[in-house]
Amino acid sequence: MDILNKVKSYREEENRMKWEGTFAEYLEIVKERPEVAQTAHSRVYNMIKSAGVKERDGRKMYEFFGEEIFGLEEAIERLVEEYFHPAAKRLDVRKRILLLMGPVSGGKSTIVTMLKRGLEKYSRTDEGAVYAIKGCPMHEDPLHLIPQHLREDFFHEYGIRIEGNLSPLNTMRLEKDYGGRVEDVMVERIFLSEDKRVGIGTFSPSDPKSQDIADLTGSIDFSTIAEYGSESDPRAYRFDGELNKANRGMMEFQEMLKCDEKFLWHLLSLTQEGNFKAGRFALISADELIVAHTNESEYRSFISNKKNEALHSRIIVMPIPYNLRVSEEERIYEKMINQSDMAHVHIAPHALRVAAIFSVLTRLKESKKQGMDLLKKMRLYDGENVEGFNQLDVEELKKEFPTEGMEGIDPRYVINRISSAIIRKEVPSINALDVLRSLKEGLDQHPSISDEDKEKYMNYISVARREYDEIAKKEVQKAFVYSYEESAKSLMNNYLDNVEAYCNKNKLRDPLTGEEMNPDEKLMRSIEEQIGISENAKRSFREEILIRISAFARKGKRFDYNSHERLREAIQKKLFADLKDVVKITTSSKTPDESQLKKINEVIARLIDEYGYNSVSANELLRYVGSLLNR
Ligand SMILES: Nc1ncnc2c1ncn2[C@@H]1O[C@H](COP(=O)(O)OP(=O)(O)OP(=O)(O)O)[C@@H](O)[C@H]1O
Ligand SMILES: [Mg+2]
Repeated sequence: MDILNKVKSYREEENRMKWEGTFAEYLEIVKERPEVAQTAHSRVYNMIKSAGVKERDGRKMYEFFGEEIFGLEEAIERLVEEYFHPAAKRLDVRKRILLLMGPVSGGKSTIVTMLKRGLEKYSRTDEGAVYAIKGCPMHEDPLHLIPQHLREDFFHEYGIRIEGNLSPLNTMRLEKDYGGRVEDVMVERIFLSEDKRVGIGTFSPSDPKSQDIADLTGSIDFSTIAEYGSESDPRAYRFDGELNKANRGMMEFQEMLKCDEKFLWHLLSLTQEGNFKAGRFALISADELIVAHTNESEYRSFISNKKNEALHSRIIVMPIPYNLRVSEEERIYEKMINQSDMAHVHIAPHALRVAAIFSVLTRLKESKKQGMDLLKKMRLYDGENVEGFNQLDVEELKKEFPTEGMEGIDPRYVINRISSAIIRKEVPSINALDVLRSLKEGLDQHPSISDEDKEKYMNYISVARREYDEIAKKEVQKAFVYSYEESAKSLMNNYLDNVEAYCNKNKLRDPLTGEEMNPDEKLMRSIEEQIGISENAKRSFREEILIRISAFARKGKRFDYNSHERLREAIQKKLFADLKDVVKITTSSKTPDESQLKKINEVIARLIDEYGYNSVSANELLRYVGSLLNR
C-alpha cells in the first residue's frame, strides 16, 4: 500500500505544480521570478550548485556528483568551472558541443546520466521551473514571442536578454490561432523527462553511412502535405528529432565521433550560432546543452583529419580520466556491486581493496622523483603519509604527467572478474585471493592488452598480493593479540622487573622457589630486538625506560602498557613472534586438539563480530595466514 500512496502523492504533487496561462500572465511570473527565463545552460549550472559545494584542500567538491562519482573531483571541478559556469553566463562556450573524453568505463556516461536525471528533478522544483509555449513540439521559450524590435525595451524593463527567433511553427500559430495577439498565446509549465521526450534527448548513431539527419532535426510528414499543400508549411513537418525534443534541456550525443564526418557537418551552424536547419525553414533556435562522449583514440583520429578542423574548433573537450585513489576505487566497486545482482554476496574485508590497488597501479605512471616508487605514489595520492614526502609532493607528481589516468584497467573489468570469481565458488563468499586470482586469469583472456602491459600487470598483481599478505597477517595478529591483552601486560611487567634489576645491579627473586636469580638477559633482548635495539644501545634504552617510570611516579601516574609507544610496539611484536607458532600450529593443524580448537573458535568469532568476516571468509583467512607463516 505504501508504494501506491507514494504514487498517488507524486501524481497529486504533479497536478499541484501544473500551471497554464496566457503569455501576459507568464510575464507576471517572469517579473517575480526571473530565473524561470534562464537558459538551459544556466539551469544546469544552478542545479549543480544548488546541491552544495564544499571545499577540501583548496579544491571545490560539487556534491551534485558526489553520490555516484568518486575520485574525479579535479575533472569535475574543471568541467564546472571551465564549461558550465561560463556557459551559464552566456559566454560563447555554451554554443560549443561539450565532449567528454576519457578511457572506457571511466564514468562518462554516468556523469551524463546524472545530469539528465538531475534536470528531470530540478524542473520539478521552484528554482528549476521551466515554461514553454503550449502545444509546441519543441517546448519553445515563450519569450521568443517578443518581437525583435522590442527586445531592447524588454531588457530595460525585465533585465533579461532574449536570444533566438520564434520558430516557423509558432510564427504560423501566432498568426493563425491567435490573430497575432502575442499576449493571448497560451503558455504552460513543463517538466523535463527523457521518457516523455521533453527537454531531454539521446542520440545514438546507427550505421554511419545511412545515418539520417532527420533523427536529429525531424522530418516532413508526407501524409499531411496534401492537407497543408506544401513542404514548407511547418505544420507538415514533424519536429521530433532529438535536437527538437531536447530543446530547453540537454541532448546526449552518444559515440559522436563514430558518426560519418559529413553528418557531423550538420552540427556546424548549431555550434556556431546556436541554431540548426530543419527542412525548408529558416534556422531554428536551440537552447540546449549538447554533451557527447568519446575515447581518446577516436578523438585523436578525429582531430588528425584536416576536414574536421571547423567542427573541432567548436567542441570543448573535457578529459574524464580514471580515478587514481585506492580508497575511492573501492567505493566505485562497492557501488557497482550494490547495483548488480551480486549484492547478496559476502565480500570479505580487503577483497575490494586489493583489486583497487591493482587497478590504480596499472593507471599510474612511474615518477622520476628521487626515492619515489609506484607504491609510494599510490599511497600519497590516496592521502596517506609516506615517509620523506608530503602532500606538496603530490601536486608536483601530478604535474609530471598531466594526462595520467587515461590508461589502465577499468572498473568494469574488475567487476566482471569479481563476478566470475563468484560464479566459480560454491558459497556466495569471496575473498581477496579469489579476486586476485580471477584478475590474473582474466588478463590472459583480455583481448586488448599488449604482452608488455600484461607482464607489467602480472607484476602489479604480485604487488597487490604482497600488500594483502601484510594486511592479512596483521588482521589475524590483532584478532589473536586482543585475547592476549593480559599476556601483553604481564610480559611487560616481567620485562620491567628485569630492567629494574639490571639497571640497579640487583637480583630478582623467583616468585615460586624464592631463589635469587640474575636478570633474564635473554628475555630482555628478545623483546628489544623486535624494534631493532642493538647490543650497544640496550643500556641507554633500559635506563630511559626507568627514568620514564620514575617521571610517571612523580606525577602520581601509573606507567602501563600504553605509556611508552616503542616499548608497546616491541611487546606486541614479541607476542606475535611467540604467537607465530601458536597461530602457525593452530591454523595449520589438521586435527587441532581441544585447546587449539577453542582458540580458533575464539579468533573466528572475533573476526566475524569485529572485523566484518563471515565464517567462510574467517576460516579462509586463518588458513591462509597459517600457510604464510609456515613458509
Ligand atoms: N570515477 C567513478 N566513480 C564512480 N563510478 C565510476 C567511476 N568510473 C567508473 N564508474 C562506474 O563504472 C561503470 C562504467 O562507467 P560508465 O558507463 O559511466 O563509463 P563510460 O566512460 O561511459 O564508459 P564507455 O566508454 O565504455 O561508455 C559505471 O557503473 C560507473 O558507475
Ligand atoms: Mg559510456
